[in-house]
Amino acid sequence: MSDQPSAEPNIVAKKCKRLFLNPGVYFYCRCGLSADGVFCDGAHKATSFVPKKFVIEDAQEVALCLCKHTPNAPYCDGTHKLI
Ligand code: FES
Repeated sequence: MSDQPSAEPNIVAKKCKRLFLNPGVYFYCRCGLSADGVFCDGAHKATSFVPKKFVIEDAQEVALCLCKHTPNAPYCDGTHKLI
């Protein structure tokens, strides 16, 4: 990996990741470099990206963006079909 901050996120996959999340605070990975590609693990430190904090109030299934291009992070909106 380059020492320079990257301007484009890493595309983990051109699909969503469906997960059942319990109530809590989560940090979605926006750089696409975390080990699981979904949640921040600090791998963004060499980039200009920061994680997106989101709160789940009620346990539910969510579809999280893996292409990292959704304008509605952390949620998939189908943008992966356009890239
Ligand atoms: S590891 Fe990707 S935003 Fe933190």
